[in-house]
Order: sequence, then C-alpha cells, then structure tokens
Amino acid sequence: MRRTSMVGYAAVVAFCVSAGVAGAPAQPPEPANLAAAGKRIAVWDIPDIDQLPDDEHGRLVRYGRSVLEATARHIGPDAPDPVMRFAGNNLACTSCHLDAGRKKFGLPLVAAAADYPLYSARSGELASLEDRLDSCMTRSMNGRPMPRDVRPMRALVAYLTVLSSALPRGAAIEGAGAGAMAELDRPADPARGAVIYARTCVFCHGEDGRGLVRNGADASLGYGVPPLWGPDSFNDGAGMNRLVTIANFVHDNMPAGIDWLMPALVPADAWDVAAYVASRGRPHREGLEKDFPDLLDKPVDAPYGPYADSFPQAQHKYGPFAPIRAEIARLKAEKGTVPNPDAR
Ligand code: HEC
Ligand code: HEC
Repeated sequence: MRRTSMVGYAAVVAFCVSAGVAGAPAQPPEPANLAAAGKRIAVWDIPDIDQLPDDEHGRLVRYGRSVLEATARHIGPDAPDPVMRFAGNNLACTSCHLDAGRKKFGLPLVAAAADYPLYSARSGELASLEDRLDSCMTRSMNGRPMPRDVRPMRALVAYLTVLSSALPRGAAIEGAGAGAMAELDRPADPARGAVIYARTCVFCHGEDGRGLVRNGADASLGYGVPPLWGPDSFNDGAGMNRLVTIANFVHDNMPAGIDWLMPALVPADAWDVAAYVASRGRPHREGLEKDFPDLLDKPVDAPYGPYADSFPQAQHKYGPFAPIRAEIARLKAEKGTVPNPDAR
C-alpha cells in the first residue's frame, strides 16, 4: 500500500514538472467544484449515475452508458434492430474511451459536454456535441452519422451531459486526451515495433491484430479484446490512426490494466509499436483530402495529405514531428493561413 502511494506521489510531481511548474511545492489538488473555468481540473467530480432515480432521465442516462460500453449490441452492423445499425464495425466507444470515458489519459469524455459546441479545425465549423460524436461514428466506428432524435444518440448525449455536470463551462481537465510523452528525434520504426508487438501485445490482440470476439456466432456481442487493424477496425481517418495519439494511448494504457502512473513500455517502445500498428491495413474513408480547410491547422501527424509544408507523407506518418512543427510555425507567421485546395 505504502509503496504504491509513494510511486503515485512521485509520478504526480513528475507530471507537474512536465506541465511546466518545475520547482513548485507539491500541493493537494483543489476540489474540482472550486476550480475556476480556464484552470486545469485535477480531481474530477463525476456523479455516480447509478444513484440517479429510476425515472425517464435516469434510465436514458444509464442506457447511454450501455451504448458506450456495448456499442455493437445497440448500434453495430449486426445489432438486433436493423434500423439502429449506425456503426460500421463492432468496436465499442469504450475500446478507446476507457472506463466508460472516466480514465485519465484514456481519452476521457468527462469534459466533452462542458466544452462543446467547439470550433473544429477539421471541418472549419463550429461543432455541436452531436457533431463531434458523429465524427467518431464515421471514423473510429467506420459508420454513418446518427440522426439527432434516435434514442441511442439522445442517450449518449444525456450520459455525457451527466459526466460533465459538475464542471464549469469550457473546463480544461488534467489527464485529457492520451498524454504527451517526449517525441523521438528519429522516425518511429515499424520493424522494431513488430518485435515489441510479438512480445507485448500479440497475446491479447492476436497475430493478425484482429482481437478476440466474445461470441463467434454473434458479432453484436462485441470484443473481449478489440482489433487493432483489419476490416473491423477504425478507418484511416480516425484520430487513433495518428501516431501521436496512438503512441501516447498505448504508453499510458496498454497492456490493458496499466495506467499513466505506471506505464509498462518505455516511450521509444511505445512509439515503435504504435508505428507497427499504424503500418497495417484498415478500412479507407473517402474524401479525407477535404479535411482541414486551413492546412496550417492540420495536425503534424495526419497521415494523409494535402499538406501546407513539403515534408514527405512518411514523415507525417512516422515522424520526427519537431521539424514539421517548426515549419508550420514559420508558415503561420509568414502567411497566416494556407487554404486547402480540396476543401468543400
Ligand atoms: C478507435 C478509437 C475510438 C473509438 C472506438 C471512439 N472514439 Fe471517440 N475519440 C477518439 C479519439 C482519438 C478522440 C480525440 C481525443 C482528443 O482529441 O483528446 C475522440 C474524441 C471523442 C469525443 C470528444 C471528446 C472531447 O472532450 O473533446 C467524443 C464526444 C467522442 N470521442 C465520443 C465517442 C463515442 C460516443 C464513441 C462511440 C460511438 C467513440 N467516441 C468511439 C477515439 C475513439
Ligand atoms: C491483457 C490484454 C491486452 C494486451 C496485452 C494489450 N491490449 Fe490493447 N487492448 C486490450 C483491451 C481489453 C482493450 C479495450 C479497452 C479496455 O477494455 O481496456 C484494448 C484496446 C487497445 C487499443 C484501442 C482500441 C482499438 O481497437 O484500437 C489499442 C490501440 C491497443 N489496445 C493497443 C495495444 C498495443 C499496441 C499493445 C501492446 C503494447 C496492447 N494493446 C496490449 C487488451 C490488451
């Protein structure tokens, strides 16, 4: 017990240092509900949805959590109700948004309902929470947009709204996204990653990356372990298909069971194994060239063009990213924007 908390303490201090407050004395975090908007909230005050009353709203919220966790059953390609087949694969939202969207650096959804509507650099427009959720539906879930009034959509929004209900509008949380470990000054190496995959991941995700289905006779029961590539995986337009995202996700969450306080892989191994996963085949999404109407807002690790800079696609896919970032900053100072010739 004692040892665990010491390690946790050291990691919290290390986290503060990397967040740019080196030398500040360690202080107990403020309760989330006292934190002002604009300040990073360290302790998340998340309502326990099982304590909601058994009324219409409580049932909708709990159904929303179920859609998040058993996505394939409710809205997958083999869902019992054909009208509700919106997702194109049998992943769950919680394949990536771990612990029902409540895990630090496990792509948490805790602040989403407090932060949206929010400008989307990818579409160049203001995105509602439903729009944002649809972008995971059409990319991570390789599916089609959900009408706003169907029960699964209303339920997901209701669940996310309860998750954020103790946070101020526009809240910034500590532990958002998947983390930001130090980058390599060389390209990430898929060949070296294959060796790490065979040592650390194959046991669960399988030789062919296809994961482990719960029931071979009924795909709507989803996965015990989700696929990492192949026809039932996220498509090439998904956020998880960007190296910075997947490498940090793997570093802070894989093998399943670890967390950011005690990663199992050193950063170089996480970068390389992520590069190996990114090098495998997955469904293709049409029209990706239209993303990001201002190419200077395109993330440096977007693995598809067009680009504002002249670095090769392979460097956008595998890094190193620092030279690209420097070039984008230079172009921003010089031109302000670089309109995407393919934008709609
Ligand atoms: C293959 C992985 C994956 C799956 C599956 C997935 N997502 Fe996401 N989702 C992401 C990534 C990556 C982000 C971007 C996170 C970031 O930028 O911090 C994201 C972002 C989001 C956001 C915005 C969060 C925020 O605070 O900005 C919402 C809402 C969301 N997803 C909902 C869903 C829902 C609902 C499902 C299931 C229908 C789903 N996602 C399935 C990977 C996934
Ligand atoms: C002990 C089994 C296990 C091991 C080992 C493991 N994973 Fe996972 N992985 C999971 C499970 C289960 C999930 C779904 C999320 C959850 O339930 O925690 C997952 C989710 C993922 C996801 C996001 C969902 C998706 O479908 O893409 C990625 C990426 C991933 N793992 C990569 C890796 C990599 C790379 C390794 C090796 C470094 C690895 N995992 C090792 C069990 C495992």
